[in-house]
Amino acid sequence: MAQATLTYTGELSDSWLTELMDRTGHESDGDYGVAHLPVLLTETVGQLILQENGVYMDGTTGDGGHSQAILRAQPQVKTVLGIDWDSRSMETSQARLAEFGERFVSVHGNYSDMVSLAAEQGITEVNGILLDLGFSSTQIENPGYGLSFQTDEPLDMRYDLDGDVTAEEIVNTYKERELGQLIRRFGEEPRGMSIARAIIKERPVETTVQLADIIVGVLGRRPGQRVNPATRTFQALRIAVNEELTNVENGLDAAVSLLATAGRLAVISYHSLEDRIVKSFFNQEAATCVCPPSLPVCICATMPRIKIINRRVIKPSSEEIQSNPRSRSAKLRVVQRI
Ligand SMILES: C[S@@+](CC[C@H](N)C(=O)[O-])C[C@H]1O[C@@H](n2cnc3c(N)ncnc32)[C@H](O)[C@@H]1O
Repeated sequence: MAQATLTYTGELSDSWLTELMDRTGHESDGDYGVAHLPVLLTETVGQLILQENGVYMDGTTGDGGHSQAILRAQPQVKTVLGIDWDSRSMETSQARLAEFGERFVSVHGNYSDMVSLAAEQGITEVNGILLDLGFSSTQIENPGYGLSFQTDEPLDMRYDLDGDVTAEEIVNTYKERELGQLIRRFGEEPRGMSIARAIIKERPVETTVQLADIIVGVLGRRPGQRVNPATRTFQALRIAVNEELTNVENGLDAAVSLLATAGRLAVISYHSLEDRIVKSFFNQEAATCVCPPSLPVCICATMPRIKIINRRVIKPSSEEIQSNPRSRSAKLRVVQRI
Protein backbone atom coordinates (compact mmCIF):
# COMPACT_ATOMS: atom_id res chain seq x y z
CA MET A 1 0.00 0.00 0.00
CA ALA A 2 1.61 3.30 -1.06
CA GLN A 3 1.81 5.89 1.73
CA ALA A 4 2.32 9.59 1.55
CA THR A 5 4.81 10.85 4.11
CA LEU A 6 3.59 12.24 7.40
CA THR A 7 5.86 14.84 8.90
CA TYR A 8 5.90 15.38 12.62
CA THR A 9 6.73 19.03 13.12
CA GLY A 10 7.10 19.05 16.88
CA GLU A 11 3.52 20.20 17.40
CA LEU A 12 0.68 17.75 17.59
CA SER A 13 -1.83 19.27 15.21
CA ASP A 14 -5.28 17.71 15.17
CA SER A 15 -5.06 16.67 11.55
CA TRP A 16 -1.65 15.08 12.06
CA LEU A 17 -3.02 13.11 14.97
CA THR A 18 -6.15 12.01 13.16
CA GLU A 19 -4.17 10.94 10.11
CA LEU A 20 -1.68 9.02 12.20
CA MET A 21 -4.41 7.21 14.14
CA ASP A 22 -6.30 6.35 10.98
CA ARG A 23 -3.22 4.90 9.41
CA THR A 24 -1.85 2.98 12.33
CA GLY A 25 -4.69 2.16 14.62
CA HIS A 26 -7.97 1.74 12.94
CA GLU A 27 -7.28 0.26 9.58
CA SER A 28 -6.52 -3.27 8.54
CA ASP A 29 -3.15 -2.60 7.02
CA GLY A 30 -2.53 -4.52 3.80
CA ASP A 31 -2.93 -8.26 3.90
CA TYR A 32 -2.12 -8.75 7.56
CA GLY A 33 -5.00 -7.66 9.77
CA VAL A 34 -3.97 -5.51 12.75
CA ALA A 35 -5.43 -6.94 15.92
CA HIS A 36 -3.47 -4.86 18.43
CA LEU A 37 -4.27 -1.17 18.64
CA PRO A 38 -1.18 0.71 19.77
CA VAL A 39 -1.87 2.59 22.99
CA LEU A 40 -1.16 6.31 23.60
CA LEU A 41 0.28 6.37 20.10
CA THR A 42 0.39 10.06 19.34
CA GLU A 43 1.38 11.02 22.87
CA THR A 44 4.28 8.55 22.84
CA VAL A 45 5.58 9.47 19.39
CA GLY A 46 5.26 13.16 20.21
CA GLN A 47 7.30 12.74 23.40
CA LEU A 48 9.92 10.47 21.89
CA ILE A 49 11.06 11.95 18.60
CA LEU A 50 13.22 14.97 19.33
CA GLN A 51 16.04 14.16 16.92
CA GLU A 52 14.56 14.05 13.43
CA ASN A 53 17.38 11.95 11.90
CA GLY A 54 17.96 9.86 15.02
CA VAL A 55 18.19 6.19 15.83
CA TYR A 56 15.32 4.84 17.93
CA MET A 57 14.65 1.64 19.75
CA ASP A 58 11.28 0.01 20.23
CA GLY A 59 12.06 -2.54 22.94
CA THR A 60 8.63 -4.19 22.72
CA THR A 61 7.77 -3.99 19.01
CA GLY A 62 4.89 -6.47 19.12
CA ASP A 63 2.83 -6.04 15.96
CA GLY A 64 4.84 -2.91 15.16
CA GLY A 65 2.22 -0.19 15.71
CA HIS A 66 4.52 2.23 17.56
CA SER A 67 7.53 1.47 15.35
CA GLN A 68 5.44 2.18 12.29
CA ALA A 69 4.21 5.46 13.74
CA ILE A 70 7.77 6.59 14.52
CA LEU A 71 8.95 5.77 11.00
CA ARG A 72 5.98 7.44 9.37
CA ALA A 73 5.93 10.49 11.58
CA GLN A 74 9.48 11.46 10.80
CA PRO A 75 10.86 10.33 7.44
CA GLN A 76 14.41 11.32 8.35
CA VAL A 77 14.54 8.88 11.27
CA LYS A 78 17.53 6.75 10.38
CA THR A 79 16.68 3.49 12.10
CA VAL A 80 14.13 1.95 14.38
CA LEU A 81 15.61 -1.08 16.09
CA GLY A 82 12.63 -3.24 17.01
CA ILE A 83 13.13 -5.85 19.71
CA ASP A 84 10.59 -8.43 20.79
CA TRP A 85 10.70 -11.73 22.58
CA ASP A 86 7.83 -13.18 20.60
CA SER A 87 8.93 -14.48 17.21
CA ARG A 88 5.26 -14.88 16.21
CA SER A 89 4.57 -11.15 16.66
CA MET A 90 7.85 -10.36 14.94
CA GLU A 91 6.59 -11.98 11.75
CA THR A 92 3.67 -9.55 11.83
CA SER A 93 5.82 -6.49 12.45
CA GLN A 94 8.36 -7.49 9.79
CA ALA A 95 5.63 -7.85 7.16
CA ARG A 96 3.91 -4.69 8.29
CA LEU A 97 7.07 -2.60 8.25
CA ALA A 98 8.65 -4.07 5.11
CA GLU A 99 7.88 -0.82 3.30
CA PHE A 100 10.58 0.91 5.39
CA GLY A 101 13.35 -1.36 4.14
CA GLU A 102 16.53 -1.14 6.19
CA ARG A 103 15.18 1.67 8.34
CA PHE A 104 13.41 -1.00 10.42
CA VAL A 105 15.74 -3.56 11.96
CA SER A 106 14.03 -6.42 13.73
CA VAL A 107 15.81 -8.31 16.51
CA HIS A 108 14.54 -11.26 18.50
CA GLY A 109 15.48 -10.97 22.16
CA ASN A 110 14.80 -9.71 25.65
CA TYR A 111 14.75 -5.93 25.94
CA SER A 112 16.74 -6.20 29.15
CA ASP A 113 19.63 -7.27 26.88
CA MET A 114 19.16 -4.22 24.68
CA VAL A 115 22.72 -2.94 25.10
CA SER A 116 24.28 -6.10 23.65
CA LEU A 117 21.47 -6.58 21.09
CA ALA A 118 22.07 -3.03 19.83
CA ALA A 119 25.85 -3.52 19.82
CA GLU A 120 25.39 -6.59 17.58
CA GLN A 121 23.77 -4.20 15.08
CA GLY A 122 26.65 -1.74 15.42
CA ILE A 123 24.58 0.64 17.57
CA THR A 124 26.14 2.00 20.76
CA GLU A 125 23.69 4.78 21.58
CA VAL A 126 20.17 5.76 20.58
CA ASN A 127 18.10 8.94 20.61
CA GLY A 128 14.93 7.46 22.04
CA ILE A 129 13.61 4.23 23.51
CA LEU A 130 10.07 2.98 23.95
CA LEU A 131 9.02 0.20 26.30
CA ASP A 132 5.33 -0.64 25.91
CA LEU A 133 5.15 -3.26 28.63
CA GLY A 134 3.22 -6.49 28.99
CA PHE A 135 1.38 -8.33 26.23
CA SER A 136 -0.53 -7.35 23.11
CA SER A 137 -4.16 -7.97 22.19
CA THR A 138 -2.87 -10.29 19.49
CA GLN A 139 -1.17 -12.45 22.10
CA ILE A 140 -4.18 -12.61 24.38
CA GLU A 141 -6.71 -13.12 21.60
CA ASN A 142 -4.92 -15.65 19.43
CA PRO A 143 -4.61 -19.33 20.26
CA GLY A 144 -1.22 -20.75 21.10
CA TYR A 145 -0.14 -18.42 23.92
CA GLY A 146 -2.26 -19.91 26.71
CA LEU A 147 -2.69 -16.44 28.22
CA SER A 148 -6.46 -16.35 28.30
CA PHE A 149 -9.31 -18.40 29.71
CA GLN A 150 -11.59 -17.35 26.84
CA THR A 151 -10.43 -20.42 24.93
CA ASP A 152 -9.36 -23.70 26.48
CA GLU A 153 -5.74 -24.41 25.64
CA PRO A 154 -2.51 -25.60 27.26
CA LEU A 155 -1.27 -23.39 30.09
CA ASP A 156 1.80 -21.95 28.37
CA MET A 157 1.96 -18.11 28.81
CA ARG A 158 5.49 -17.71 27.38
CA TYR A 159 6.05 -14.74 25.07
CA ASP A 160 9.30 -16.38 23.99
CA LEU A 161 8.86 -19.96 22.85
CA ASP A 162 12.52 -20.58 23.74
CA GLY A 163 11.73 -19.73 27.38
CA ASP A 164 12.37 -22.52 29.90
CA VAL A 165 9.32 -22.33 32.15
CA THR A 166 5.61 -22.55 31.33
CA ALA A 167 2.65 -21.75 33.57
CA GLU A 168 1.80 -25.46 33.51
CA GLU A 169 5.12 -26.29 35.12
CA ILE A 170 4.61 -23.68 37.81
CA VAL A 171 1.12 -24.79 38.81
CA ASN A 172 2.10 -28.44 38.81
CA THR A 173 5.48 -28.32 40.54
CA TYR A 174 5.51 -25.42 43.03
CA LYS A 175 4.91 -26.14 46.69
CA GLU A 176 1.63 -24.80 48.08
CA ARG A 177 3.23 -21.96 50.01
CA GLU A 178 5.45 -20.91 47.10
CA LEU A 179 2.53 -20.92 44.67
CA GLY A 180 0.31 -19.01 47.10
CA GLN A 181 2.94 -16.34 47.63
CA LEU A 182 3.46 -15.99 43.89
CA ILE A 183 -0.28 -15.47 43.32
CA ARG A 184 -0.47 -12.96 46.18
CA ARG A 185 2.60 -11.02 45.13
CA PHE A 186 2.32 -10.89 41.33
CA GLY A 187 -1.47 -11.00 41.15
CA GLU A 188 -2.13 -8.82 44.20
CA GLU A 189 -4.67 -11.55 45.01
CA PRO A 190 -5.46 -11.63 48.75
CA ARG A 191 -6.84 -15.20 48.50
CA GLY A 192 -3.66 -16.52 46.88
CA MET A 193 -3.09 -19.18 49.54
CA SER A 194 -6.61 -20.64 49.20
CA ILE A 195 -6.26 -20.68 45.42
CA ALA A 196 -2.91 -22.46 45.68
CA ARG A 197 -4.44 -25.08 47.99
CA ALA A 198 -7.27 -25.73 45.52
CA ILE A 199 -4.87 -25.96 42.57
CA ILE A 200 -2.73 -28.50 44.37
CA LYS A 201 -5.77 -30.65 45.14
CA GLU A 202 -6.72 -30.73 41.46
CA ARG A 203 -3.27 -31.43 40.01
CA PRO A 204 -2.43 -32.04 37.24
CA VAL A 205 -3.81 -28.73 35.97
CA GLU A 206 -3.18 -28.53 32.24
CA THR A 207 -5.44 -26.03 30.53
CA THR A 208 -6.51 -22.42 30.90
CA VAL A 209 -10.19 -23.17 31.45
CA GLN A 210 -9.43 -25.92 33.97
CA LEU A 211 -7.37 -23.43 35.98
CA ALA A 212 -9.96 -20.65 35.69
CA ASP A 213 -12.70 -23.02 36.90
CA ILE A 214 -10.64 -23.98 39.97
CA ILE A 215 -10.12 -20.30 40.83
CA VAL A 216 -13.80 -19.43 40.34
CA GLY A 217 -14.60 -22.43 42.58
CA VAL A 218 -12.58 -20.78 45.37
CA LEU A 219 -13.54 -17.13 44.87
CA GLY A 220 -17.09 -17.54 43.57
CA ARG A 221 -18.56 -15.20 41.01
CA ARG A 222 -21.15 -12.54 41.73
CA PRO A 223 -23.96 -12.23 39.16
CA GLY A 224 -23.00 -9.49 36.71
CA GLN A 225 -19.35 -9.39 37.85
CA ARG A 226 -17.51 -8.02 34.82
CA VAL A 227 -13.98 -9.12 35.53
CA ASN A 228 -13.41 -12.85 35.77
CA PRO A 229 -12.07 -13.65 39.26
CA ALA A 230 -9.29 -15.70 37.64
CA THR A 231 -7.75 -12.58 36.06
CA ARG A 232 -5.40 -11.78 38.96
CA THR A 233 -4.05 -15.32 39.17
CA PHE A 234 -3.49 -15.38 35.41
CA GLN A 235 -1.61 -12.07 35.71
CA ALA A 236 0.56 -13.55 38.47
CA LEU A 237 1.47 -16.62 36.43
CA ARG A 238 2.18 -14.56 33.30
CA ILE A 239 4.47 -12.25 35.26
CA ALA A 240 6.31 -15.20 36.80
CA VAL A 241 6.68 -17.17 33.55
CA ASN A 242 8.11 -14.17 31.70
CA GLU A 243 10.00 -12.71 34.70
CA GLU A 244 8.32 -9.46 33.81
CA LEU A 245 9.22 -7.39 36.85
CA THR A 246 12.90 -8.35 36.79
CA ASN A 247 12.98 -7.51 33.09
CA VAL A 248 11.41 -4.12 33.73
CA GLU A 249 14.03 -3.33 36.40
CA ASN A 250 16.94 -4.46 34.24
CA GLY A 251 15.46 -2.98 31.06
CA LEU A 252 15.08 0.49 32.57
CA ASP A 253 18.69 0.53 33.69
CA ALA A 254 19.89 -0.73 30.29
CA ALA A 255 17.77 1.87 28.50
CA VAL A 256 19.19 4.80 30.47
CA SER A 257 22.73 3.62 29.75
CA LEU A 258 22.00 3.26 26.01
CA LEU A 259 20.46 6.72 25.59
CA ALA A 260 22.46 9.51 24.01
CA THR A 261 22.47 12.85 25.85
CA ALA A 262 19.02 14.48 25.47
CA GLY A 263 17.57 11.16 24.31
CA ARG A 264 14.23 10.15 25.79
CA LEU A 265 12.86 7.00 27.35
CA ALA A 266 9.09 6.51 27.23
CA VAL A 267 7.51 3.69 29.23
CA ILE A 268 3.88 2.60 29.04
CA SER A 269 2.79 0.39 31.94
CA TYR A 270 -0.53 -1.33 32.49
CA HIS A 271 -0.68 -2.31 36.13
CA SER A 272 0.46 -0.95 39.45
CA LEU A 273 3.31 -3.44 39.96
CA GLU A 274 4.99 -2.27 36.75
CA ASP A 275 4.22 1.39 37.25
CA ARG A 276 5.62 1.39 40.79
CA ILE A 277 8.94 0.07 39.51
CA VAL A 278 9.08 2.63 36.71
CA LYS A 279 8.15 5.54 38.97
CA SER A 280 10.61 4.65 41.69
CA PHE A 281 13.47 3.98 39.24
CA PHE A 282 12.87 7.34 37.55
CA ASN A 283 12.73 9.18 40.90
CA GLN A 284 15.91 7.49 42.07
CA GLU A 285 17.83 8.22 38.84
CA ALA A 286 16.62 11.81 38.70
CA ALA A 287 17.48 12.58 42.34
CA THR A 288 19.98 15.39 42.78
CA CYS A 289 20.71 14.56 46.41
CA VAL A 290 20.52 11.30 48.36
CA CYS A 291 21.87 12.60 51.68
CA PRO A 292 19.91 11.72 54.83
CA PRO A 293 17.43 14.53 55.58
CA SER A 294 19.19 15.09 58.93
CA LEU A 295 22.30 16.50 57.19
CA PRO A 296 22.23 20.32 57.06
CA VAL A 297 24.06 20.45 53.70
CA CYS A 298 24.40 18.10 50.76
CA ILE A 299 27.61 16.10 50.71
CA CYS A 300 26.67 13.34 48.28
CA ALA A 301 27.49 15.11 44.99
CA THR A 302 24.94 12.91 43.24
CA MET A 303 24.92 13.33 39.47
CA PRO A 304 21.45 12.41 38.16
CA ARG A 305 21.42 10.46 34.91
CA ILE A 306 17.97 11.63 33.83
CA LYS A 307 15.39 14.35 34.27
CA ILE A 308 11.71 13.61 34.55
CA ILE A 309 9.65 15.08 31.71
CA ASN A 310 6.16 14.46 33.07
CA ARG A 311 5.59 14.38 36.83
CA ARG A 312 1.96 13.52 36.20
CA VAL A 313 1.50 10.34 34.20
CA ILE A 314 -0.01 10.68 30.74
CA LYS A 315 -3.20 8.62 30.41
CA PRO A 316 -5.38 7.75 27.43
CA SER A 317 -8.16 10.18 26.53
CA SER A 318 -11.75 9.13 27.02
CA GLU A 319 -12.02 8.80 23.22
CA GLU A 320 -9.11 6.36 23.15
CA ILE A 321 -10.56 4.33 26.02
CA GLN A 322 -13.87 4.19 24.22
CA SER A 323 -12.34 2.97 20.97
CA ASN A 324 -9.81 0.70 22.70
CA PRO A 325 -11.00 -0.34 26.18
CA ARG A 326 -7.72 -2.24 26.76
CA SER A 327 -5.95 1.11 26.92
CA ARG A 328 -7.81 2.18 30.06
CA SER A 329 -5.12 1.22 32.55
CA ALA A 330 -2.18 2.60 30.52
CA LYS A 331 0.21 5.10 32.08
CA LEU A 332 2.97 6.81 30.13
CA ARG A 333 6.08 8.14 31.90
CA VAL A 334 8.85 9.92 30.03
CA VAL A 335 12.38 10.87 31.08
CA GLN A 336 15.28 12.51 29.29
CA ARG A 337 18.96 11.56 29.52
CA ILE A 338 21.15 14.28 30.93
C1 LIG B 1 1.94 -4.15 24.65
S1 LIG B 1 2.82 -5.17 23.53
C2 LIG B 1 3.58 -4.02 22.46
C3 LIG B 1 2.71 -3.60 21.33
C4 LIG B 1 3.40 -2.70 20.34
N1 LIG B 1 3.80 -1.45 20.92
C5 LIG B 1 2.53 -2.47 19.13
O1 LIG B 1 2.18 -1.32 18.87
O2 LIG B 1 2.16 -3.44 18.45
C6 LIG B 1 4.15 -5.74 24.47
C7 LIG B 1 5.15 -6.60 23.69
O3 LIG B 1 6.29 -6.77 24.53
C8 LIG B 1 6.82 -8.05 24.29
N2 LIG B 1 7.66 -8.38 25.46
C9 LIG B 1 7.29 -8.63 26.72
N3 LIG B 1 8.35 -8.81 27.51
C10 LIG B 1 9.44 -8.66 26.72
C11 LIG B 1 10.85 -8.71 26.95
N4 LIG B 1 11.34 -8.93 28.16
N5 LIG B 1 11.67 -8.47 25.91
C12 LIG B 1 11.18 -8.22 24.67
N6 LIG B 1 9.86 -8.16 24.39
C13 LIG B 1 9.00 -8.38 25.40
C14 LIG B 1 5.62 -8.93 24.12
O4 LIG B 1 5.96 -10.10 23.41
C15 LIG B 1 4.69 -7.99 23.33
O5 LIG B 1 4.83 -8.20 21.96
